[in-house]
Amino acid sequence: MAKEIQAELKSALGQARSILEDLERVGLGEVLPTGEDERLPVCNLDGSGNCRPETLEEIAADLGDCHRCNLSKERQNIAFGVGNPDAEIVFVGEGPGREEDLRGEPFVGEAGRLLDRIIQAMGFQRSDVYICNVVKCRPPRNRDPEAEQIAACEPFLQRQLAAIRPRVIVALGKFAAQTLLQSQTPISRLRGRWAEYHGIPLMPTFHPAYLLRTPSGKRDVWEDMKQVMKRVEED
Ligand code: URA
Ligand code: URA
Repeated sequence: MAKEIQAELKSALGQARSILEDLERVGLGEVLPTGEDERLPVCNLDGSGNCRPETLEEIAADLGDCHRCNLSKERQNIAFGVGNPDAEIVFVGEGPGREEDLRGEPFVGEAGRLLDRIIQAMGFQRSDVYICNVVKCRPPRNRDPEAEQIAACEPFLQRQLAAIRPRVIVALGKFAAQTLLQSQTPISRLRGRWAEYHGIPLMPTFHPAYLLRTPSGKRDVWEDMKQVMKRVEED
């Protein structure tokens, strides 16, 4: 008896799925929640076509206990990223510092506290947005990450951005802006002007650690964040 019920249930579920798939073919695909059909290919950054967004958990699992570059030798913890998987704004910094390395979370030190205040001034909480870095392991003595280290880590940043597909990316500081935009232009010239990362609007601004040393830069950052808020509020 139980077997018969199971068989009936299976067939009913099969029919339901094929109805949903038919609806999808005629353009009513919203009824088939994306992200649930595991047979679909994972979306790339442009998010077009019939695809499912990868989840941040899948990406973190693939990163695993990463040893793809030599930063893994001295790091304590990977700081993968933190925040809302449906964030409208993603902040991208350079790489974990000492406190981030100890906690395994980006922007939890002094620069992070300033970033939190900037986020709050924009009308958000830290948990509303998503925060990550170009490299996920601390460069010893906070050196600039090297080309090989960036090359090893960047696919994971790309996948995080493809999974979230935010309305806006904020590149914090020279390093994130120049890496994401593949540009050598100084941050003082990049900041405040809209750019694009694979079709996603990107606003370069000064790094909060720079603002700690140069508080006069805060005015510029606030101008840049006002542009970001306006963009996020549009339509
Ligand atoms: N600076 C960064 O660029 N990222 C962090 O996570 C902390 C400090
Ligand atoms: N230099 C940097 O690396 N970042 C800034 O935001 C400003 C100066």
